[in-house]
This record gives sequence, C-alpha cells and structure tokens, in this order.
Amino acid sequence: IKYSDAIFTQSAPSIRQCPADSGAEVAFAGRSNAGKSSAINTLCQNHKLARTSKTPGRTQLINFFALSDNQHLVDLPGYGFAKVPLAMKKEWEKHLSEYLAERQCLKGLILLMDVRHPMQEFDTMMLNWAIEGEMPVHILLTKADKLKKGPAQNTLLKVRKHLKDAKVDDLVSAQLFSSLKKTGIKELENTLDNWLRI
Ligand code: GTP
Ligand code: MG
Repeated sequence: IKYSDAIFTQSAPSIRQCPADSGAEVAFAGRSNAGKSSAINTLCQNHKLARTSKTPGRTQLINFFALSDNQHLVDLPGYGFAKVPLAMKKEWEKHLSEYLAERQCLKGLILLMDVRHPMQEFDTMMLNWAIEGEMPVHILLTKADKLKKGPAQNTLLKVRKHLKDAKVDDLVSAQLFSSLKKTGIKELENTLDNWLRI
C-alpha cells in the first residue's frame, strides 16, 4: 500500500454518520494530544493531510482518508482534557464503543499513547472494548524522541510484559514511534498492510 497516496475524503460529526461500512478501515485512537494526526501525516508523508495542534482536542470530527476506493484510515477525535463537558464525553464513549463493536470494515485499531505516560484510564478502556470484540490493536508509544533510548525501550518492554501477563499479546502488539524523528514508520506500515489487505 502506498500511504503517500492518501487523500482526505470526508469528516463525520459522529460515528452514526460515517461513510458506508465496506472495504477495510483502520482507526487511530488515543487521548487528546497523543499524536494521532501527526502519526497519520508522518505515515503518509504529508504534513498537511490531518490537522495537528498544540491545543488538545484539535480534531473534533472523525476524519476519513482514502488509500484506495476501499481502504481507509480514520483519525478519531481524542479527549481526556477537561474542556469537554462530562455528558458529551459519556456520549462520545458510547458512540466509540458502538463503532468498535459494530463496524464490520474496521480491521484493527492503532492506539496511540504518549511514551511518557502509557496505559492511562482512557487507554485501558479502549483496549478492553477492543479485546471484548476480538479487535486487533497495535499500540504506538508516541513521542519516543522525548525519552532517551534506554528509558523508551524499557517502557516498551513493560507494556509488552503487561500484555503478555494479561494474555492478550496475540491480539495486541506495541512499538515505539516518533513523528518528529520519523522512527517506527516501517513497523507501523507492516501492521497496516496486514490489516488493510483485501
Ligand atoms: P487531538 O486531535 O487533539 O486528539 O490530538 P492528536 O492526538 O491528533 O495530536 P497531534 O498530532 O495534533 O499532536 C499534538 C502535539 O504533539 C503537537 O504539538 C505535535 O507537534 C506534537 N507531537 C506529535 N507527535 C510528536 C512526536 O513524535 N514527537 C514530538 N516531540 N512531538 C509530537
Ligand atoms: Mg488530531
């Protein structure tokens, strides 16, 4: 798959208004500011593809990017910052869990976590929903450039051990990633290639 061919196709204000459930799709999820939009841009070598921001909560719509007529990447809005009212957060959680459970074309979830504080409450919740539905998950420990090699590698090993102890390592994998240093792209591509193959 040529990720640099990705083009923006549409935004949906809610999961209920997504395009038709066909082909293969992979969604990028994670807390606000985890680096979802940046990772999509890095992968697709196009810094103008998905809008990134220093302000958490930049992406409020669900954005769809096409790699071909029937292969898509989805940039999900993140949250975890106090700006959003609790009722809206709960509503979004409900939609998100439904999307994970019901979307047939969703082949896997890329779950992004800042390498400096992985496995927060939101992350665990997303992981549990995915595992319940036997949805494969690939964890990107993002902003790996913010840590020295040793500590970053240690975090990765800890996350992998956690997955193994929870007996979900057949369904959930993890890697380090940095949009700034452009590291981890090939590993991410391999996972996506497998999931998006039709
Ligand atoms: P929301 O849309 O708010 O959910 O955020 P997001 O997860 O899409 O994050 P986004 O890609 O907009 O990045 C948030 C901030 O982190 C921006 O200031 C990025 O420049 C920065 N950032 C993203 N990836 C990296 C990285 O690999 N290294 C460093 N140092 N900064 C990064
Ligand atoms: Mg974003």
